[in-house]
Amino acid sequence: HTVALENFQAEKGLYKHFMAKEIHEQPGVLADALARYLTPDRAAVRLPVPVDFTSASRIVLVACGTAHYACHVAKYWFERFARLPVEIEVASEFRYREPPLDAGTLGIFVSQSGETADTLAALRYVKATGGRTVAVVNVETSTIARESEVALPILAGPEIGVASTKAFTCQLAVLAALAITAGRQRGTLDAAEETRLSTALATAPGLLSRALALEPEIAEIARDLSRASDVLFLGRGSMYPLALEGALKLKEISYIHAEGYAAGELKHGPIALVDDAVPVIVLAPTDPLFDKTVSNMQEVMARDGKVLLLSDAAGISWAGEGTWRTLALPTLDPFVAPIVYAAPAQLIAYHTAILKGTDVDQPRNLAKSVTVE
Ligand code: G6P
Repeated sequence: HTVALENFQAEKGLYKHFMAKEIHEQPGVLADALARYLTPDRAAVRLPVPVDFTSASRIVLVACGTAHYACHVAKYWFERFARLPVEIEVASEFRYREPPLDAGTLGIFVSQSGETADTLAALRYVKATGGRTVAVVNVETSTIARESEVALPILAGPEIGVASTKAFTCQLAVLAALAITAGRQRGTLDAAEETRLSTALATAPGLLSRALALEPEIAEIARDLSRASDVLFLGRGSMYPLALEGALKLKEISYIHAEGYAAGELKHGPIALVDDAVPVIVLAPTDPLFDKTVSNMQEVMARDGKVLLLSDAAGISWAGEGTWRTLALPTLDPFVAPIVYAAPAQLIAYHTAILKGTDVDQPRNLAKSVTVE
């Protein structure tokens, strides 16, 4: 037992925590995962196991926790590339709501462990109603992988830290490949678009690595964040689920109350919380919605809100004035922004938690895998 424990500790290597190790492993594992999902020239997607999207009339994406936010990002991709109706579901609600489904339903179940009780029950429900099932899992021998018709591995390697990090970005990579495949099969994405998206996806590991280089700056920003009692995260489009994930990470490991909001919802409630003591973290790459997000950010600043803007050089030079702090991420194709912006969101949570002295690998009250209800 002692030997096993020592081996386990040794795996952390130079890192103080598994979470730090797993955050920094992302460029490597993401590249490995993409090597299995892209053609060697990176110009197209090739799934390791075929999935048929032509007979689907709708997609239901089901998961819990961080995996659910990966599904939320994927909804934007599937709708845009494959023009299919997509629902995202929290497994614990879906299973008891027993929604009406038919044989045209394609259920996609996303789970790092492949053992989450609610996600497994949701999978069984879809099977029982005649729908088709695809699992996106890290543990290939898991129950969810075995019970679904098709299982796609995310290839993140063992994830020990309770708060999911590298599994999230690898889930996004696999879901992106699925959405591109769906678009190609359904004729809603032409070859040139598939090439553009596949090539962009192939840039994600390198961009993520550059994003991780912001760590010293993030550690410094975390000094202020660690004194806050509430933090808001804002994003639009596929960055909205990233705002939710950023807030989840922060509350999970630093125990600071945090909420993620769609930037356009700000005026419908959360703006009432804004004052100079509430940091507002804005996730805004320069994409077609950038101007909209910036005007929401300005509403925050007009109320003395303390804005941390995460954007690229162009976005920061356009809108950075008057913010509390900025973090300059690499310029990128907005399609891959959710994967790349996950890194600073994780590092913000990690460094804030370190300053608070919490147990980042095993935060209080949380379990790595929730196999009971
Ligand atoms: C727990 C973990 C989360 C994880 C969630 C879903 O709450 O603490 O990090 O996202 O379960 O787990 P799964 O294994 O199904 O992805």
